[in-house]
Amino acid sequence: MASVPSLASTVQQRLADALSAALPEAGSTDPLLRRSDRADFQANGILALAKKLKGNPRELAAKVTGVLDSGDLLKDVEVSGPGFLNITLTDAAITSTLAARAADDRLGVPLKENPGITVVDYAQPNVAKEMHVGHLRSAVIGDALRAMLDFTGEKTIGRHHIGDWGTQFGMLIQYLIEHPGTLAPADEVDGEQAMSNLNRVYKASRAVFDTDEEFKERARKRVVALQSGDKETLELWQRFVDESKVYFYSVFEKLDMEIRDDEIVGESAYNEGMPETARLLEEMGVAVRSEGALVVFFDDIRGKDDQPVPLIVQKADGGFGYAASDLTAIRNRVQDLHATSLIYVVDVRQSLHFKMVFEAARRAGWLTDDVTAHNMGYGTVLGADGKPFKTREGETVKLEDLLDEAAERATAVVREKAERVGLSEEEIVENGRYVGIGAVKYADLSTSANRDYKFDLDQMVSLNGDTSVYLQYAYARIRSILRKADDRKPAAHPELALAPAERALGLHLDAFGELLAEATAEYAPHKLAAYLYQLASLYTTFYDQCPVLKAESAELVENRLFLCDLTARTLHQGMALLGIRTPERL
Ligand code: ARG
Repeated sequence: MASVPSLASTVQQRLADALSAALPEAGSTDPLLRRSDRADFQANGILALAKKLKGNPRELAAKVTGVLDSGDLLKDVEVSGPGFLNITLTDAAITSTLAARAADDRLGVPLKENPGITVVDYAQPNVAKEMHVGHLRSAVIGDALRAMLDFTGEKTIGRHHIGDWGTQFGMLIQYLIEHPGTLAPADEVDGEQAMSNLNRVYKASRAVFDTDEEFKERARKRVVALQSGDKETLELWQRFVDESKVYFYSVFEKLDMEIRDDEIVGESAYNEGMPETARLLEEMGVAVRSEGALVVFFDDIRGKDDQPVPLIVQKADGGFGYAASDLTAIRNRVQDLHATSLIYVVDVRQSLHFKMVFEAARRAGWLTDDVTAHNMGYGTVLGADGKPFKTREGETVKLEDLLDEAAERATAVVREKAERVGLSEEEIVENGRYVGIGAVKYADLSTSANRDYKFDLDQMVSLNGDTSVYLQYAYARIRSILRKADDRKPAAHPELALAPAERALGLHLDAFGELLAEATAEYAPHKLAAYLYQLASLYTTFYDQCPVLKAESAELVENRLFLCDLTARTLHQGMALLGIRTPERL
């Protein structure tokens, strides 16, 4: 494992050294390096510096270039405009740096120096309820974030804060007691059956609950029994949880996503700690009694008529709710799991809840300055019509149907080209699935999470444009070239001159590690998606302009195969972090 400094960072360092050598009075100055169309990089830092030193920027720039150590790295440094530097690297520097990346399993991407522990709260559906597209977003985004963080060396711990507690269980359990057999044992059903059983029980119990006062009363008593830990009641509650998990797992599996049982730690897991949470908050004066309830007030959080909106820790009837479980979870995550960062991938509509929970936890000292807490609030999934995604009847769309349809459409797309590539029926179906699921994930991940996005399958499986299929095809095309190369093997030849398309591709490949560090630090998978899309586009240009297997010399063939190979590996790695497969043949 050898981390490879990017060309950009090396140039940046050289420039910074030259700046302090030429202008020691300036102190340390950022050369403000960025990629440029005119040369490889442009540095704008001298302009601001000239202003500060009241000097002529072009003269200062000339002074800097005078002492700049070009070595084997810089081919040309030109002062342009009011005092920019246009910087062109040598071809050899580009190829050698890429060769060092290729020699490393991690593509030269460094590990973080001081990795922490991040608890990622994501993929949190609710027991006995159908999952909806919002749960899909949470799962997809959380899974990608986790993989990205893991890759930097951060330790991540998943927490699936499922909704497995609440008064609705009184009704469900009571119904089950009165209608035994409406729920088949969890080990006898598949995901779809589990959900349809749960749905049936939910609807039926709700119908009785709404019309039969006596049942309502029995359900209420059942809630009390559940809360006081009555054995029979708890066992029945567990059946709902187990049955629901069968369903959750079937959806996650369709999503090609691994969810660990020990990380499913739902609301109920914090029951035991909630009274203590409430007691401590009250003792510290963070929470106060108001109309019988225990609440936390905030100066800046006000609702209608400028009335303060409190966070309710304990209701007047003594019951604990959502906020109490989240506050207790924070104590557990910080004090027992030793988290240094907490991320919550939860619908933006819950952002006020988290703002209040975090603030209350800070006041209580459970969140200290060393711990960051962030609600990665995601936007709404819209239908092609721009309205929240629902069936024509206005119901939530079944996730499994959605994923099946994505796979079906994608399979049709794969099938069209299958003959040319020589895919078996089995491969068509398998790839179709990876393309379909990839399309769904990519559409989600390529938009900045806080924005709404349109769930438009036609667009998602389109071969043109910013889609995962486009990236998967780019990958498969490269793999096919590498197969066709037979005994000609990828090899870097730093002595060869590079064509413009090769330079552009090479510089982009070199920037992978830095981009990844940025996207990870900002919790922004969409930046990784954008990088990969650009990589595939640059590869397409390269492929159009630079023959690979038919290049003029054996060395040129090898060097281009080398660029192909590194592109494929970078695409593969990046896509894997987004949770998207890259089939070898498409
Ligand atoms: N189960 C909740 C829902 O479906 C999401 C839970 C989010 N996580 C949390 N720690 N509150 O809306």
